[in-house]
Parts: sequence; C-alpha cells; structure tokens
Amino acid sequence: MSTEGSVPLEKAIADKTAIIGIAGLGYVGLPLIRAFVAAGFRTMGFDVDQTKVDRLLAGESYIEHIPSDWIGKCIADKTFEPTADMSRMKEADAILICVPTPLSDSRDPDLTYVEDTTRTIAKTLRPGQLVALESTTYPGTTRDVMLPILEKSGLKVGKDFYVAYSPEREDPGNPNFSAEKIPKVVGGIDALSCRLACALYSHAVVDAIPVSSCEAAEACKIVENTYRSVNIAMVNELKMLFDRIGIDVWEVIDAAKTKPFGFQAFYPGPGLGGHCIPIDPFYLSWVARRVGMATRFIELAGEVNMSMPQYVIHQLQEALNESAKSIRGSKICLLGVAYKKDVDDMRESPSLELMEMLLNRGAELTYNDPHVPKLPTLRRYDMSHMESVELTPEFLASQDCVLIATDHTAYDYADIVKHAQLVIDTRNATKQVTEGREKIRKA
Ligand SMILES: NC(=O)c1ccc[n+]([C@@H]2O[C@H](COP(=O)([O-])OP(=O)(O)OC[C@H]3O[C@@H](n4cnc5c(N)ncnc54)[C@H](O)[C@@H]3O)[C@@H](O)[C@H]2O)c1
Repeated sequence: MSTEGSVPLEKAIADKTAIIGIAGLGYVGLPLIRAFVAAGFRTMGFDVDQTKVDRLLAGESYIEHIPSDWIGKCIADKTFEPTADMSRMKEADAILICVPTPLSDSRDPDLTYVEDTTRTIAKTLRPGQLVALESTTYPGTTRDVMLPILEKSGLKVGKDFYVAYSPEREDPGNPNFSAEKIPKVVGGIDALSCRLACALYSHAVVDAIPVSSCEAAEACKIVENTYRSVNIAMVNELKMLFDRIGIDVWEVIDAAKTKPFGFQAFYPGPGLGGHCIPIDPFYLSWVARRVGMATRFIELAGEVNMSMPQYVIHQLQEALNESAKSIRGSKICLLGVAYKKDVDDMRESPSLELMEMLLNRGAELTYNDPHVPKLPTLRRYDMSHMESVELTPEFLASQDCVLIATDHTAYDYADIVKHAQLVIDTRNATKQVTEGREKIRKA
C-alpha cells in the first residue's frame, strides 16, 4: 500500500485544480459546495432529484440560508455544476457523499441511500479518486459497507483510490457557524487516505482534525449527537418535575449556566426534531444490540424526548379545562412548524406530531410559520392542504389557544400575548413579555 510519498491527487489538492464532486445536494451538500467554491475549487453537485438540479441550474436556491444570487453566480462562472448525470462522477477527483441516513420503520439504520450512491460511484471509479462519506452513520459503515462495494470495481484502496469518513457538523441557520467555520474530524481507511482528506478539507474549513480510523470519526459524530439527546432528555424530565413543584426550569438553567465551568446549558422543548438528534443515537443502539449490549442512556433519552408532545398536549388540555373548554371544537393556532427556530426544515419536527394529536382530538387547527408558507406532503403526516395563517390581532383574539412550538425570532411575542386568550409556551419564547403574563402557561 502506498502510504508514503506524494500522489498526483495531493498536488491537485494543493494547487486547487482538483474537482470536488458532492453527492446529495441537501442541507449538508449545498453548504459544503459553497465552502469549496469559496476556497477556490471547481465543484460538481450530483443529485438523483432532477427537480433540485433544475432549480439550481436556474439559479434558484431551495435552502433558506443559501442565497439564490450566490447559486446563480456560481452556475454562471462554472465553479458549481449541478447534474443528475451520475456517469459524470468520473470527472471529480474527490467525491464527498452527503445523502440521507434515516431509520427504517423498525428504527434500524437505513443505509439504502449510502449504498446506492456508493454503487453509482463504483461504476465509474478511476485511479486517483478520493471518496469520503459525510453522512451520519454507525462505526464500521465506511469499511464494512462502502469499501466492499467500491472494491468490486477491481481497484484497490490505498493503491488505486482513497477512502475516508468525515462527519458533517452543519448547524443550519446558525449565523455564527457556517460550514467553513466548523472544524472537521477526518478518519481514513489508511494513513494516505486520511492525509489526502485532511489536506482537502483544510482548504475549505477552519481546521481538519485527523483521527486514527474511519470508525473513530464515525463514532465521534454519534457521540456528539447522543450527548445532546441525553442532555435534552434530562432537562425535559426536570421541566416536568419542576413544573409540579412550582419551579421554572428555564430560570434554573439560566442561573446554573452562570457557573463558568462544568455546566453546559441545554433547554427543554416540545420534543426532538431535525434530521440528526432524534435519529443518530439509534444507529449506535443498533450496533450495541449486535454485540449483545444495551445502550440504556440512549433508550431512556429517546423515551423521555418522545413523550414530550404528549406532555405538551396534556398541559394544553389542562389550561383549556380551566376555562371550561376541551380540545375538541377549540380554535388552536400552532406557531412554528420548523423543528427549530429561524429555519424552514420540518423533518422530524415535534410540531407535526402536536398538530396530528390536536387534529385527532378534534381541534379546529391552524398554524403560522414565517419560514413555511405551506405544508408539503410529508412521509408520516398529510397536512398538505394547510397554509400559514396571518397573525392579525383579530385572528389571535379569535383563538382559544395559541401554542408556541418553535421560537422563531420573527415573532412579536408581546403582541401575540397581548391579543391571544391563552398562550402555551413550550420554548420560554415569551420570557421578555411583561404584560398579560397570566395568559401564558409554560409547557
Ligand atoms: N441537516 C443537518 O443539519 C445535518 C447535520 C449534520 C449531518 N447531517 C447528515 O448529513 C446527511 C445528509 O443530510 P441532509 O440534511 O443534507 O439531507 P437532505 O435530505 O437535505 O439531502 C440529501 C440529498 O441527497 C439526495 N440523494 C439521495 N440519494 C442520492 C443518490 N443516490 N445520489 C445522489 N443524491 C442522492 C437527495 O435527493 C437529497 O437532495 C445525513 O446523514 C444527515 O444525518 C445532516
């Protein structure tokens, strides 16, 4: 295996003549393209969704924090070439895979997208190419699942081509941490693969941190997300306890975080959302089951976090009950369908579950979200007839209850509380509101 000395790809990376191909042009892939273009590379974007490719070719962004102007400019100057023609993968010197890694219905890892993409790459794999997986997955995926598919091409890793794993840490909508500002952990199948991948990423992001193997890098990403899931579950549980004994959990967390060491603030909410935190820890549970172990922290955190929508509905029911009302027949407007503030992403959003629970209980339900004007057809929920309503004072006053599920910055919370009859606040979004606090119930 040629782990010593320089290989042509190293020079192409150093002088930025290497063409970077990104497979999967979603929330992770597009920002990564932007980071490589900003670093001075020519990029190609591959996606099986022809509609996305067509929109990009027309200079149109479908991700809120990636401006259309920027797409148009890159298409015009050819620094970004989107295509659904996978045979063109042979033109890229490095191919970075950013495709979905969901859970199956039985909550097992679903690697279909990773396997399909790898098979496509294998069809045109040529000597000198670097293939790096970025999708979140369990330790062992790159070596045990991807590598055998790639080597079916007849080429040998370390000699003919290179393979690495580098987890994406994108935080969509976070103005302080765009892709290029987030360090990347890199693990290679061998030392040369790791060196090449580190060299490549260090052009595009602030730092590339090598670890000893793909498995260490894969585990690193899952540890990061499990850490969040477990800590969020803890504060969610404490929220329920503190509510019962008359203590405001948000006040306690804000006080605790004044400790300059040993405490990191996590906040309760209506449940977990997004593509990562509700899903990734279960990739690790699956690995544990295979080796005869249980991951009790992960399971417990999942259980607590998944029970949160139920808790919110219970609180809402209690609050309506105080005015002799039931959920059935009540006008309820949910604010924020995106899974977190200031984004338009609804994947796994607890708001959708809350909406479904309210509809099942007979509420006259509406929603508002400045980032989601209309609900698309979703895998688990069909609410595609619903459109975001305007929050006029008259509309707010006509509602039996306003349920704040996501604390978008665009909302005028004082105005919402002023006009609403009852506000259920799952995010402490009304923290600064001074007038009408008797109408607010935290949940
Ligand atoms: N969204 C996040 O904030 C985030 C953060 C860190 C890590 N991740 C991880 O990154 C990965 C991608 O997530 P995402 O949010 O960008 O997903 P996404 O759904 O936004 O984008 C994935 C894209 O891949 C395309 N695709 C599917 N199969 C393909 C194939 N065979 N070839 C080419 N393209 C294909 C889809 O059409 C889609 O456009 C996941 O593993 C996720 O867990 C996501």
